[in-house]
Amino acid sequence: MSETAVCPGSFDPVTNGHLDVIERAATHFERLIVGCLRNVGKRPLFDLERRLELLESATAHLDNVEIASFDGLLVEFCRRRGVRIVVRGLRAVSDFESELEMAQMNHRLADVETFFVATSPLYSFLSSTLVKEVARFGGDVTPFVPPAVNDGLRAQFAGRSGERLMEPGSTNVAEGTPHE
Ligand code: PNS
Repeated sequence: MSETAVCPGSFDPVTNGHLDVIERAATHFERLIVGCLRNVGKRPLFDLERRLELLESATAHLDNVEIASFDGLLVEFCRRRGVRIVVRGLRAVSDFESELEMAQMNHRLADVETFFVATSPLYSFLSSTLVKEVARFGGDVTPFVPPAVNDGLRAQFAGRSGERLMEPGSTNVAEGTPHE
């Protein structure tokens, strides 16, 4: 029986969808280690330290959740921590193929089992990538991310040319604005 599980991801940045999965997984294990991958393939918007800070603040209310970073293979990180269960959120069928491949590879490599949490329908459309894109072009992402992440996104994109930020609840279409 495993008392600890690892919930891995890029978390660039953590969204309310991630948080929902983390909160729910944390109720099923004595300890949940949120593993933040250092080397995200493409250049991350937030560096590792900032991603960890944002994860720390978003999960501060969860006593049994630990935030850690890892590099290289997930199964190696699991081995170092003595963990054999990985938890991943599944948003839609489109996630399934790649998640199944990863789960099967991790099982083959190191006997690590993957448990899937079905993402709440409230967040099934949410991804870090979309959140960044909406924020980059001035959309309101306050419903989708923890407050510190919202502040971080606003700071990242403040003052960038061709991009503007909007107040929560307002629309992003100014009357008379020509289509690009
Ligand atoms: O948030 P993401 O980007 O969907 O998370 C993907 C992640 C970090 C879980 C996955 O890319 C991963 O485990 N990377 C570590 C390298 C590794 O172990 N690759 C083989 C996976 S079968």
